[in-house]
Amino acid sequence: MNGDQNRRRSGQPSTQLPNCITLCRIAGAVLIVFTEPFSVIFFALYLFCGITDVLDGWIARRLRAESDFGALLDSIADFVFLIAVAWTVLPAISLARWMIWWAGGIAALRFISLATALCRFGTFAWLHTIGNKCTGLLLFSSPVLCRLIGMTPTVLALGAVATLSALEELALLFILPQLDRDRKSFFEGGKSMKQPMKTHSRYDRARKFQIFWSLFIGIGAVAGSIGMGIRPDGSAIGMDALLPYFQVLPFSELLFQNFIFPSIALFCVNGLPNLIAAYLQLQKKKSGSILGGVLGVTLMLWICIQFVIFPANFMSTSFFFFGLAQALTGYAAVVFWKQEHFAVCPENYPRIGTDPKRLVVYFSRMGYTRKAAFEAAQKTGAQLYEVKAAERTTGTLGFWWCGRYGMHRLAMPIEPLSIDLAAFDHVTLCSPIWVFHLAAPMRQFCKQARGKIKTADYILTHHMHAGFANAAREMDALLGLKHSSAISITCPLGEEKDVALLHEENAIV
Ligand SMILES: Cc1cc2nc3c(=O)[nH]c(=O)nc-3n(C[C@H](O)[C@H](O)[C@H](O)COP(=O)(O)O)c2cc1C
Repeated sequence: MNGDQNRRRSGQPSTQLPNCITLCRIAGAVLIVFTEPFSVIFFALYLFCGITDVLDGWIARRLRAESDFGALLDSIADFVFLIAVAWTVLPAISLARWMIWWAGGIAALRFISLATALCRFGTFAWLHTIGNKCTGLLLFSSPVLCRLIGMTPTVLALGAVATLSALEELALLFILPQLDRDRKSFFEGGKSMKQPMKTHSRYDRARKFQIFWSLFIGIGAVAGSIGMGIRPDGSAIGMDALLPYFQVLPFSELLFQNFIFPSIALFCVNGLPNLIAAYLQLQKKKSGSILGGVLGVTLMLWICIQFVIFPANFMSTSFFFFGLAQALTGYAAVVFWKQEHFAVCPENYPRIGTDPKRLVVYFSRMGYTRKAAFEAAQKTGAQLYEVKAAERTTGTLGFWWCGRYGMHRLAMPIEPLSIDLAAFDHVTLCSPIWVFHLAAPMRQFCKQARGKIKTADYILTHHMHAGFANAAREMDALLGLKHSSAISITCPLGEEKDVALLHEENAIV
């Protein structure tokens, strides 16, 4: 029996927590039945169920407390939630006949998929494809979307995505040589089963958020434009009352007698480009992240124009904030992409270690100082030595922890030095700047190196466009010497920009 099983058997709180959350979701779902459809309490419970649905799985994975019972409970909770929402919402809305037929068709496709899986692999199967996840997300968002963009566009968007993902799943179940529940899409090339463990990537996280926003906004815009196209008076998406505001605009006789031109504009500006951006983001292309960010700003501008044309309303205001979220995640994704591609490849530095009398010492959290150190060692043939912090410096938590050391100008404990500094004629010390001063691990290193280094020069990396001669002076004081030269490198967003020789008299301190 392994450790996880032991924990499960002993019923420690960590194992029980996800199941408790799932039970709360079941209770929340049952309460939905007693609410007024689309009321504030309805949406509050709906949101609660959605959040707990994500939370229980996430906590279970984090605590390594996944269990068959947990998975079963999760499925029961999903089922109760679906029935409760259908029970509450369906009597309050009138579905057109074509919507019911379409839903029936999708259900039939799903049944054929289940039967295919049973015949081919001897088990019922539901693939975790991106299409299926998007369908789930849209299904979950549909009550909110109904309120925002109207019933017809919501059904069109949901129906299109659900049909495509059902067809994709069916095709996969036909062609897969063996059952691969984690297959991401039809175009993946069948490599998902034995993928190596993914490393923590902030870019990947931001990219996933971007995909959500691009699909959400893109599908919403396409659905809205189809709604306007089907009924050019705007009645399909509840915009008919706004037509008079358009009819007083310049060129209104030509463009704004109905919603045909706005429909085309919406499709071309917010619909199609967002879907293209989502595709590029799925392909992990940096251009997708940039496009997503630009489209977020475009959406905000679009909404600002709407604010000028007609009075502020709930839908426009919501989409302004969606645009803001999309722009911010786009910016974050581009920054993280640049940071993660700012890597050092040791094979590109063949001269390092050829001069036994020179040493380059560095501490680096994000890789900027590492790159500067490699380049310095490549130039002179010096050996490299990395100072490693004995405290957490990575990730967001690590950033705040470093900030604490920076604020109080403390020395951060480092791993024991494993190099004889006195054996070198010259040492280059490379350090990032933290809170306008020397980085805390290098402060500790300098303390320990006092009296052991004969001559030294410094390389300082920082984000702001400034010189940090104070850090050079602090290193001098700690080491008990006077540096021969100091270089200051500005490294904004994954690039080395300005390399400047640091002169104490004109440095910004
Ligand atoms: C806690 C902390 C504080 C920072 N404070 C400053 C600062 O005051 N001024 C600045 O220009 N950069 C500051 N930075 C940014 C780093 O100096 C800059 O990103 C540096 O190039 C990072 O080097 P590294 O990738 O080798 O860790 C700070 C970074 C951290 C983690």
